Amino acid sequence: MVAVAILAAGRGTRMKSDLPKVCHTLGSVSLVERVLKSCLSLTPSRILVIVGYQSERVKKSLEAYSTVEFVEQTEQLGTGHAVQQLLPYLEGFTEELLVLNGDVPLLRSSTIKQLLDTHKTHQNAATLLTAHLSNPKGYGRVFCDGQNLLKQIVEERDCTPEQKQNRRINAGIYCFNWPQLAKALPKLEANNDQKEYYLTDMVKFLEPVMAVDVEDEQEISGINDRKQLACAYEILQSRVKDAWMERGVTLVDPASITIDDTVKLQPDVTIEPQTHLRGKTQIGSGSRIGPGSLIENSQLGENVTVLYSVISDSVVKDGTRIGPYAHLRGHVEVGESCRVGNFVELKNTTLGGRTNVAHLSYLGDAQLGNKVNIGAGTITANYDGVKKHRTQIGDRTKTGSNSVLVAPLTLGQDVTIAAGSTVTEDVPDDCLVLARTRQVVKPGWRLKNQAEKS
Ligand code: UD1
Ligand code: CA
Repeated sequence: MVAVAILAAGRGTRMKSDLPKVCHTLGSVSLVERVLKSCLSLTPSRILVIVGYQSERVKKSLEAYSTVEFVEQTEQLGTGHAVQQLLPYLEGFTEELLVLNGDVPLLRSSTIKQLLDTHKTHQNAATLLTAHLSNPKGYGRVFCDGQNLLKQIVEERDCTPEQKQNRRINAGIYCFNWPQLAKALPKLEANNDQKEYYLTDMVKFLEPVMAVDVEDEQEISGINDRKQLACAYEILQSRVKDAWMERGVTLVDPASITIDDTVKLQPDVTIEPQTHLRGKTQIGSGSRIGPGSLIENSQLGENVTVLYSVISDSVVKDGTRIGPYAHLRGHVEVGESCRVGNFVELKNTTLGGRTNVAHLSYLGDAQLGNKVNIGAGTITANYDGVKKHRTQIGDRTKTGSNSVLVAPLTLGQDVTIAAGSTVTEDVPDDCLVLARTRQVVKPGWRLKNQAEKS
Protein backbone atom coordinates (compact mmCIF):
# COMPACT_ATOMS: atom_id res chain seq x y z
CA MET A 1 0.00 0.00 0.00
CA VAL A 2 1.08 3.51 -0.79
CA ALA A 3 2.33 5.97 1.86
CA VAL A 4 1.76 9.70 1.54
CA ALA A 5 4.00 12.60 2.52
CA ILE A 6 2.71 16.18 2.51
CA LEU A 7 5.23 19.01 2.49
CA ALA A 8 3.98 21.68 4.86
CA ALA A 9 7.02 23.05 6.67
CA GLY A 10 7.62 26.22 4.67
CA ARG A 11 6.62 29.67 5.81
CA GLY A 12 5.32 30.82 2.45
CA THR A 13 7.16 34.14 2.39
CA ARG A 14 5.27 35.35 -0.65
CA MET A 15 2.00 35.31 1.30
CA LYS A 16 3.44 38.12 3.48
CA SER A 17 1.67 36.62 6.46
CA ASP A 18 2.36 35.52 10.01
CA LEU A 19 0.21 32.47 9.46
CA PRO A 20 2.00 29.52 7.79
CA LYS A 21 0.94 29.40 4.15
CA VAL A 22 -0.63 25.95 4.36
CA CYS A 23 -2.92 27.16 7.18
CA HIS A 24 -4.54 29.81 5.01
CA THR A 25 -8.05 28.73 4.16
CA LEU A 26 -9.85 28.19 0.92
CA GLY A 27 -13.60 28.09 1.54
CA SER A 28 -13.25 27.43 5.32
CA VAL A 29 -10.77 24.53 4.87
CA SER A 30 -7.01 25.01 5.25
CA LEU A 31 -4.79 24.37 2.22
CA VAL A 32 -3.02 21.47 3.93
CA GLU A 33 -6.30 19.85 4.97
CA ARG A 34 -7.49 20.04 1.38
CA VAL A 35 -4.33 18.31 0.19
CA LEU A 36 -4.76 15.67 2.88
CA LYS A 37 -8.39 15.06 1.91
CA SER A 38 -7.44 14.64 -1.74
CA CYS A 39 -5.40 11.52 -0.92
CA LEU A 40 -7.65 9.89 1.69
CA SER A 41 -9.64 7.87 -0.83
CA LEU A 42 -6.43 5.98 -1.68
CA THR A 43 -6.48 4.66 1.93
CA PRO A 44 -2.73 5.20 2.37
CA SER A 45 -0.95 2.91 4.82
CA ARG A 46 0.69 5.99 6.39
CA ILE A 47 0.26 9.73 6.11
CA LEU A 48 3.27 11.81 7.10
CA VAL A 49 3.01 15.58 7.21
CA ILE A 50 6.28 17.46 7.28
CA VAL A 51 5.98 20.50 9.51
CA GLY A 52 8.44 23.21 10.52
CA TYR A 53 7.46 26.88 10.46
CA GLN A 54 4.91 27.32 13.28
CA SER A 55 4.46 23.56 13.36
CA GLU A 56 1.97 23.76 16.26
CA ARG A 57 -0.48 25.71 14.14
CA VAL A 58 -0.19 23.31 11.23
CA LYS A 59 -0.69 20.34 13.56
CA LYS A 60 -3.74 21.98 15.09
CA SER A 61 -5.35 22.48 11.69
CA LEU A 62 -5.13 18.69 11.17
CA GLU A 63 -6.03 17.57 14.69
CA ALA A 64 -9.21 15.87 13.46
CA TYR A 65 -7.09 13.30 11.59
CA SER A 66 -5.80 10.99 14.28
CA THR A 67 -3.74 8.76 11.99
CA VAL A 68 -1.55 11.55 10.62
CA GLU A 69 2.10 11.41 11.72
CA PHE A 70 4.02 14.66 11.95
CA VAL A 71 7.65 14.89 10.96
CA GLU A 72 9.63 17.96 12.08
CA GLN A 73 11.86 19.78 9.63
CA THR A 74 13.44 22.23 12.05
CA GLU A 75 15.24 24.24 9.38
CA GLN A 76 13.52 24.73 6.05
CA LEU A 77 16.31 24.04 3.62
CA GLY A 78 14.13 23.12 0.65
CA THR A 79 11.64 20.53 -0.59
CA GLY A 80 14.39 17.88 -1.01
CA HIS A 81 15.60 18.49 2.54
CA ALA A 82 11.98 18.13 3.71
CA VAL A 83 11.73 14.67 2.14
CA GLN A 84 15.12 13.70 3.60
CA GLN A 85 13.51 14.03 7.05
CA LEU A 86 11.39 10.96 6.22
CA LEU A 87 14.39 8.62 6.11
CA PRO A 88 14.23 7.46 9.75
CA TYR A 89 10.43 7.22 9.62
CA LEU A 90 10.23 5.04 6.53
CA GLU A 91 13.06 2.66 7.29
CA GLY A 92 12.22 -0.75 5.89
CA PHE A 93 9.27 0.57 3.86
CA THR A 94 9.40 -1.05 0.44
CA GLU A 95 6.53 0.43 -1.54
CA GLU A 96 5.51 3.66 -3.22
CA LEU A 97 5.58 7.11 -1.63
CA LEU A 98 3.31 9.86 -2.89
CA VAL A 99 4.73 13.30 -2.22
CA LEU A 100 2.30 16.19 -2.34
CA ASN A 101 3.16 19.85 -1.93
CA GLY A 102 0.98 21.24 0.85
CA ASP A 103 0.05 24.27 -1.26
CA VAL A 104 -1.73 22.51 -4.15
CA PRO A 105 -5.27 22.39 -2.75
CA LEU A 106 -7.46 21.81 -5.82
CA LEU A 107 -6.08 18.42 -6.76
CA ARG A 108 -8.69 15.70 -7.38
CA SER A 109 -8.35 12.21 -5.92
CA SER A 110 -8.92 10.74 -9.39
CA THR A 111 -5.84 12.57 -10.67
CA ILE A 112 -3.63 11.21 -7.90
CA LYS A 113 -4.98 7.75 -8.62
CA GLN A 114 -4.11 8.15 -12.31
CA LEU A 115 -0.58 9.18 -11.41
CA LEU A 116 -0.19 6.15 -9.19
CA ASP A 117 -1.58 3.79 -11.85
CA THR A 118 0.80 5.12 -14.53
CA HIS A 119 3.68 4.85 -12.11
CA LYS A 120 2.90 1.20 -11.36
CA THR A 121 2.15 0.19 -14.96
CA HIS A 122 5.50 1.50 -16.15
CA GLN A 123 7.38 0.44 -13.03
CA ASN A 124 8.94 3.89 -12.88
CA ALA A 125 11.41 4.99 -10.26
CA ALA A 126 9.43 8.24 -10.13
CA THR A 127 6.40 9.71 -11.88
CA LEU A 128 5.28 13.29 -11.60
CA LEU A 129 2.37 15.45 -12.67
CA THR A 130 2.94 18.14 -15.24
CA ALA A 131 0.85 20.70 -17.11
CA HIS A 132 1.24 22.98 -20.07
CA LEU A 133 0.35 26.46 -18.84
CA SER A 134 -0.19 29.58 -20.91
CA ASN A 135 1.32 31.47 -17.98
CA PRO A 136 3.96 29.20 -16.38
CA LYS A 137 5.35 31.99 -14.18
CA GLY A 138 6.76 30.84 -10.86
CA TYR A 139 6.75 27.10 -11.58
CA GLY A 140 9.67 24.76 -12.20
CA ARG A 141 10.01 23.88 -15.89
CA VAL A 142 10.01 20.24 -16.95
CA PHE A 143 12.17 18.98 -19.81
CA CYS A 144 11.35 15.57 -21.31
CA ASP A 145 12.23 13.45 -24.29
CA GLY A 146 9.57 12.33 -26.78
CA GLN A 147 8.46 9.45 -24.51
CA ASN A 148 7.67 11.73 -21.56
CA LEU A 149 10.82 10.51 -19.85
CA LEU A 150 12.36 13.23 -17.78
CA LYS A 151 15.64 14.91 -18.50
CA GLN A 152 15.56 17.67 -15.91
CA ILE A 153 13.46 20.10 -13.91
CA VAL A 154 14.73 23.65 -13.64
CA GLU A 155 13.27 26.11 -11.15
CA GLU A 156 12.20 29.36 -12.77
CA ARG A 157 14.83 31.39 -10.95
CA ASP A 158 17.53 29.02 -12.24
CA CYS A 159 16.23 29.04 -15.84
CA THR A 160 18.06 30.61 -18.75
CA PRO A 161 15.82 32.96 -20.78
CA GLU A 162 15.48 30.13 -23.30
CA GLN A 163 14.45 27.56 -20.71
CA LYS A 164 11.83 29.99 -19.43
CA GLN A 165 10.05 29.70 -22.77
CA ASN A 166 9.16 26.10 -21.91
CA ARG A 167 5.55 26.09 -20.70
CA ARG A 168 5.54 22.57 -19.30
CA ILE A 169 5.58 22.89 -15.53
CA ASN A 170 6.09 20.68 -12.48
CA ALA A 171 2.88 20.46 -10.43
CA GLY A 172 4.67 19.44 -7.24
CA ILE A 173 2.87 16.07 -7.07
CA TYR A 174 5.11 13.03 -7.25
CA CYS A 175 5.05 9.28 -6.88
CA PHE A 176 8.37 7.66 -5.93
CA ASN A 177 9.52 4.13 -5.42
CA TRP A 178 10.64 4.62 -1.83
CA PRO A 179 13.69 2.28 -1.67
CA GLN A 180 15.14 3.94 -4.79
CA LEU A 181 14.36 7.43 -3.50
CA ALA A 182 15.79 6.65 -0.07
CA LYS A 183 19.05 5.58 -1.64
CA ALA A 184 19.29 8.75 -3.74
CA LEU A 185 18.16 11.35 -1.17
CA PRO A 186 21.59 11.77 0.50
CA LYS A 187 23.05 12.73 -2.88
CA LEU A 188 21.12 16.01 -3.14
CA GLU A 189 23.13 19.20 -3.26
CA ALA A 190 22.13 22.80 -2.79
CA ASN A 191 23.95 24.41 -5.68
CA ASN A 192 21.20 26.65 -7.03
CA ASP A 193 20.04 30.25 -6.77
CA GLN A 194 18.22 29.65 -3.46
CA LYS A 195 20.94 27.44 -1.92
CA GLU A 196 18.23 24.93 -1.12
CA TYR A 197 17.97 21.16 -1.49
CA TYR A 198 15.44 20.72 -4.28
CA LEU A 199 13.29 17.60 -4.45
CA THR A 200 13.11 18.22 -8.17
CA ASP A 201 16.83 17.39 -8.46
CA MET A 202 15.99 13.77 -7.61
CA VAL A 203 15.27 13.16 -11.26
CA LYS A 204 19.04 13.27 -11.85
CA PHE A 205 19.55 10.20 -9.67
CA LEU A 206 16.53 8.09 -10.61
CA GLU A 207 15.54 6.19 -13.71
CA PRO A 208 13.12 6.01 -15.34
CA VAL A 209 11.26 9.16 -14.32
CA MET A 210 8.08 9.86 -16.24
CA ALA A 211 5.90 12.96 -16.58
CA VAL A 212 2.12 12.64 -16.76
CA ASP A 213 0.08 15.57 -18.03
CA VAL A 214 -2.90 16.53 -15.95
CA GLU A 215 -6.19 16.83 -17.87
CA ASP A 216 -7.57 19.88 -16.07
CA GLU A 217 -4.69 22.21 -15.40
CA GLN A 218 -6.69 24.27 -12.90
CA GLU A 219 -6.30 21.36 -10.50
CA ILE A 220 -2.62 21.83 -9.97
CA SER A 221 -2.65 25.57 -9.21
CA GLY A 222 -0.06 26.12 -6.49
CA ILE A 223 -0.72 28.82 -3.92
CA ASN A 224 2.25 31.08 -3.29
CA ASP A 225 0.64 34.49 -2.85
CA ARG A 226 -2.72 36.08 -2.12
CA LYS A 227 -3.54 36.52 -5.78
CA GLN A 228 -3.15 32.82 -6.42
CA LEU A 229 -5.25 32.12 -3.33
CA ALA A 230 -8.03 34.27 -4.78
CA CYS A 231 -7.74 32.57 -8.19
CA ALA A 232 -7.97 29.14 -6.56
CA TYR A 233 -11.07 30.28 -4.69
CA GLU A 234 -12.69 31.29 -7.95
CA ILE A 235 -11.91 27.90 -9.49
CA LEU A 236 -13.27 26.09 -6.45
CA GLN A 237 -16.42 28.22 -6.49
CA SER A 238 -17.21 27.52 -10.11
CA ARG A 239 -16.71 23.77 -9.50
CA VAL A 240 -19.07 23.81 -6.51
CA LYS A 241 -21.73 26.02 -8.08
CA ASP A 242 -21.80 24.11 -11.36
CA ALA A 243 -22.28 20.87 -9.44
CA TRP A 244 -25.24 22.25 -7.43
CA MET A 245 -26.94 23.68 -10.49
CA GLU A 246 -26.61 20.30 -12.18
CA ARG A 247 -28.31 18.75 -9.16
CA GLY A 248 -31.33 21.05 -9.31
CA VAL A 249 -30.41 24.05 -7.17
CA THR A 250 -31.26 27.51 -8.52
CA LEU A 251 -28.53 30.12 -8.14
CA VAL A 252 -30.14 33.39 -9.16
CA ASP A 253 -26.86 35.24 -9.73
CA PRO A 254 -24.00 32.74 -9.36
CA ALA A 255 -21.29 35.39 -9.59
CA SER A 256 -22.49 37.08 -6.39
CA ILE A 257 -23.00 33.85 -4.42
CA THR A 258 -20.34 31.81 -2.58
CA ILE A 259 -20.81 28.23 -1.40
CA ASP A 260 -18.22 26.21 0.54
CA ASP A 261 -17.68 22.70 -0.78
CA THR A 262 -18.67 21.37 2.65
CA VAL A 263 -22.27 22.62 2.22
CA LYS A 264 -25.13 20.24 1.34
CA LEU A 265 -28.23 21.37 -0.57
CA GLN A 266 -31.37 19.56 -1.70
CA PRO A 267 -32.90 19.99 -5.15
CA ASP A 268 -35.25 22.98 -5.52
CA VAL A 269 -33.36 25.15 -3.10
CA THR A 270 -33.14 28.71 -4.44
CA ILE A 271 -30.19 30.89 -3.54
CA GLU A 272 -30.72 34.59 -4.17
CA PRO A 273 -27.92 37.09 -4.93
CA GLN A 274 -25.26 38.15 -2.40
CA THR A 275 -25.74 35.04 -0.31
CA HIS A 276 -22.92 33.04 1.27
CA LEU A 277 -23.21 29.46 2.53
CA ARG A 278 -20.36 28.29 4.72
CA GLY A 279 -19.04 25.33 6.68
CA LYS A 280 -21.30 22.39 7.47
CA THR A 281 -24.50 24.09 6.35
CA GLN A 282 -27.41 21.97 5.04
CA ILE A 283 -30.56 23.33 3.40
CA GLY A 284 -33.78 21.44 2.62
CA SER A 285 -35.85 21.41 -0.53
CA GLY A 286 -38.07 24.39 -1.36
CA SER A 287 -36.10 26.80 0.80
CA ARG A 288 -35.27 30.25 -0.52
CA ILE A 289 -32.19 31.90 0.94
CA GLY A 290 -31.28 35.53 0.36
CA PRO A 291 -30.80 38.01 -1.03
CA GLY A 292 -28.04 39.24 1.22
CA SER A 293 -27.64 36.40 3.70
CA LEU A 294 -24.84 34.49 5.41
CA ILE A 295 -25.52 30.95 6.65
CA GLU A 296 -22.72 29.25 8.55
CA ASN A 297 -22.63 25.73 10.05
CA SER A 298 -26.43 25.63 10.22
CA GLN A 299 -29.19 23.18 9.29
CA LEU A 300 -32.23 24.66 7.58
CA GLY A 301 -35.27 22.48 6.90
CA GLU A 302 -37.64 22.50 3.92
CA ASN A 303 -39.50 25.59 2.71
CA VAL A 304 -37.56 27.93 4.95
CA THR A 305 -37.11 31.52 3.78
CA VAL A 306 -34.25 33.73 4.89
CA LEU A 307 -34.06 37.35 3.83
CA TYR A 308 -31.08 39.65 4.54
CA SER A 309 -30.06 37.71 7.63
CA VAL A 310 -27.11 36.03 9.33
CA ILE A 311 -27.45 32.53 10.79
CA SER A 312 -24.60 30.65 12.42
CA ASP A 313 -24.35 27.37 14.35
CA SER A 314 -28.14 27.03 14.40
CA VAL A 315 -31.08 24.87 13.33
CA VAL A 316 -34.21 26.18 11.60
CA LYS A 317 -37.10 23.79 11.00
CA ASP A 318 -39.53 23.50 8.07
CA GLY A 319 -41.66 26.41 6.91
CA THR A 320 -40.06 29.08 9.09
CA ARG A 321 -39.47 32.63 7.85
CA ILE A 322 -36.36 34.48 8.96
CA GLY A 323 -35.68 38.18 8.39
CA PRO A 324 -35.30 40.69 7.08
CA TYR A 325 -32.33 41.62 9.26
CA ALA A 326 -32.31 38.81 11.81
CA HIS A 327 -29.20 37.38 13.49
CA LEU A 328 -29.23 33.83 14.86
CA ARG A 329 -26.06 32.69 16.57
CA GLY A 330 -24.66 30.36 19.22
CA HIS A 331 -26.89 27.28 18.96
CA VAL A 332 -30.33 28.62 18.22
CA GLU A 333 -33.13 26.17 17.41
CA VAL A 334 -36.20 27.55 15.70
CA GLY A 335 -39.20 25.22 15.38
CA GLU A 336 -41.56 24.70 12.45
CA SER A 337 -43.55 27.57 10.90
CA CYS A 338 -42.09 30.29 13.10
CA ARG A 339 -41.44 33.89 12.20
CA VAL A 340 -38.25 35.62 13.28
CA GLY A 341 -38.37 39.06 11.82
CA ASN A 342 -37.00 42.51 11.53
CA PHE A 343 -33.97 43.33 13.68
CA VAL A 344 -34.22 40.30 15.95
CA GLU A 345 -31.17 38.72 17.55
CA LEU A 346 -31.39 35.20 18.98
CA LYS A 347 -28.52 33.60 20.89
CA ASN A 348 -28.48 30.10 22.41
CA THR A 349 -32.27 30.09 22.31
CA THR A 350 -34.92 27.51 21.40
CA LEU A 351 -38.28 28.41 19.88
CA GLY A 352 -41.13 25.85 19.72
CA GLY A 353 -43.41 25.51 16.68
CA ARG A 354 -45.47 28.47 15.39
CA THR A 355 -43.75 30.92 17.72
CA ASN A 356 -43.22 34.49 16.52
CA VAL A 357 -40.53 37.01 17.36
CA ALA A 358 -41.33 39.51 14.70
CA HIS A 359 -39.70 42.82 15.58
CA LEU A 360 -36.75 44.41 17.40
CA SER A 361 -35.99 41.76 20.04
CA TYR A 362 -33.02 40.17 21.76
CA LEU A 363 -33.55 36.70 23.20
CA GLY A 364 -30.49 35.07 24.77
CA ASP A 365 -30.27 31.79 26.73
CA ALA A 366 -34.04 31.38 26.45
CA GLN A 367 -36.40 28.49 25.87
CA LEU A 368 -39.79 29.30 24.35
CA GLY A 369 -42.71 26.89 23.92
CA ASN A 370 -45.16 26.61 21.02
CA LYS A 371 -47.29 29.48 19.67
CA VAL A 372 -45.55 32.07 21.83
CA ASN A 373 -45.81 35.66 20.64
CA ILE A 374 -42.96 37.95 21.54
CA GLY A 375 -44.03 41.60 21.26
CA ALA A 376 -41.92 44.19 19.49
CA GLY A 377 -38.91 45.27 21.49
CA THR A 378 -39.02 42.45 24.06
CA ILE A 379 -35.59 41.86 25.57
CA THR A 380 -34.24 39.10 27.79
CA ALA A 381 -31.84 40.67 30.28
CA ASN A 382 -29.77 37.50 30.49
CA TYR A 383 -26.47 38.88 31.79
CA ASP A 384 -25.93 40.34 35.25
CA GLY A 385 -22.40 41.45 34.48
CA VAL A 386 -20.90 38.21 35.77
CA LYS A 387 -23.10 35.29 34.73
CA LYS A 388 -25.62 34.45 32.02
CA HIS A 389 -29.07 33.35 33.20
CA ARG A 390 -31.90 31.47 31.49
CA THR A 391 -35.43 32.52 30.60
CA GLN A 392 -38.24 29.97 30.10
CA ILE A 393 -41.50 30.92 28.41
CA GLY A 394 -44.47 28.51 28.24
CA ASP A 395 -46.81 27.76 25.32
CA ARG A 396 -49.10 30.52 24.01
CA THR A 397 -47.62 33.20 26.26
CA LYS A 398 -47.57 36.76 24.90
CA THR A 399 -45.19 39.52 25.87
CA GLY A 400 -46.27 43.13 25.32
CA SER A 401 -44.13 45.57 23.39
CA ASN A 402 -40.98 46.74 25.13
CA SER A 403 -41.04 44.12 27.91
CA VAL A 404 -37.80 43.42 29.74
CA LEU A 405 -37.55 39.87 31.06
CA VAL A 406 -34.88 39.84 33.77
CA ALA A 407 -33.33 36.37 33.97
CA PRO A 408 -33.33 33.91 35.66
CA LEU A 409 -37.06 33.93 34.90
CA THR A 410 -39.83 31.43 34.18
CA LEU A 411 -43.10 32.50 32.60
CA GLY A 412 -45.80 29.82 32.57
CA GLN A 413 -48.24 28.96 29.78
CA ASP A 414 -50.91 31.41 28.55
CA VAL A 415 -49.31 34.33 30.38
CA THR A 416 -49.83 37.86 29.11
CA ILE A 417 -47.26 40.52 29.91
CA ALA A 418 -48.43 44.12 29.62
CA ALA A 419 -46.47 46.40 27.32
CA GLY A 420 -43.54 48.16 28.93
CA SER A 421 -43.23 45.74 31.86
CA THR A 422 -39.97 44.90 33.57
CA VAL A 423 -40.55 41.36 34.82
CA THR A 424 -38.26 40.15 37.58
CA GLU A 425 -40.27 37.37 39.23
CA ASP A 426 -41.55 34.03 37.93
CA VAL A 427 -45.14 33.97 36.69
CA PRO A 428 -47.45 30.90 36.91
CA ASP A 429 -49.82 29.80 34.10
CA ASP A 430 -52.81 31.90 32.99
CA CYS A 431 -51.80 35.25 34.49
CA LEU A 432 -51.76 38.83 33.34
CA VAL A 433 -48.67 40.70 34.53
CA LEU A 434 -48.35 44.48 34.76
CA ALA A 435 -44.94 45.47 36.00
CA ARG A 436 -44.72 49.18 35.34
CA THR A 437 -45.73 52.34 37.15
CA ARG A 438 -49.29 53.42 36.69
CA GLN A 439 -49.70 56.40 34.37
CA VAL A 440 -50.33 59.74 36.08
CA VAL A 441 -52.05 62.49 34.13
CA LYS A 442 -52.10 66.04 35.55
CA PRO A 443 -54.56 68.21 33.63
CA GLY A 444 -53.58 71.83 32.91
CA TRP A 445 -50.07 71.28 34.26
CA ARG A 446 -48.19 73.21 31.60
CA LEU A 447 -50.40 76.30 31.86
CA LYS A 448 -50.08 76.38 35.65
CA ASN A 449 -46.32 75.97 35.50
CA GLN A 450 -45.91 78.86 33.07
CA ALA A 451 -48.21 81.09 35.08
CA GLU A 452 -46.01 80.66 38.20
CA LYS A 453 -42.85 81.62 36.28
CA SER A 454 -44.24 84.85 34.82
C1 UD1 B 1 7.87 23.80 -6.00
C2 UD1 B 1 8.75 23.04 -6.98
C3 UD1 B 1 8.44 23.54 -8.39
C4 UD1 B 1 6.98 23.35 -8.70
C5 UD1 B 1 6.09 23.99 -7.63
C6 UD1 B 1 4.65 23.55 -7.85
C7 UD1 B 1 10.82 22.54 -5.81
C8 UD1 B 1 12.26 22.89 -5.66
N1 UD1 B 1 10.14 23.27 -6.67
O1 UD1 B 1 8.25 25.17 -6.06
O2 UD1 B 1 9.23 22.82 -9.36
O3 UD1 B 1 6.67 23.89 -9.98
O4 UD1 B 1 6.49 23.58 -6.32
O5 UD1 B 1 3.76 24.18 -6.99
O6 UD1 B 1 10.34 21.61 -5.17
N2 UD1 B 1 8.35 23.09 1.95
C9 UD1 B 1 8.80 22.37 3.04
N3 UD1 B 1 10.08 22.54 3.46
C10 UD1 B 1 10.95 23.36 2.83
C11 UD1 B 1 10.49 24.09 1.70
C12 UD1 B 1 9.19 23.90 1.28
O7 UD1 B 1 8.04 21.60 3.65
O8 UD1 B 1 12.11 23.45 3.26
C13 UD1 B 1 6.94 22.90 1.51
C14 UD1 B 1 6.16 24.19 1.52
O9 UD1 B 1 5.50 24.38 2.78
C15 UD1 B 1 5.16 23.98 0.40
C16 UD1 B 1 5.86 23.03 -0.54
O10 UD1 B 1 6.93 22.47 0.18
O11 UD1 B 1 3.96 23.40 0.83
C17 UD1 B 1 6.38 23.71 -1.80
O12 UD1 B 1 7.28 24.74 -1.42
P1 UD1 B 1 7.34 26.11 -2.22
O13 UD1 B 1 8.38 26.95 -1.59
O14 UD1 B 1 6.00 26.68 -2.39
O15 UD1 B 1 7.90 25.59 -3.63
P2 UD1 B 1 7.76 26.32 -5.04
O16 UD1 B 1 8.74 27.41 -5.11
O17 UD1 B 1 6.35 26.66 -5.32
CA1 CA C 1 4.53 26.51 -4.21
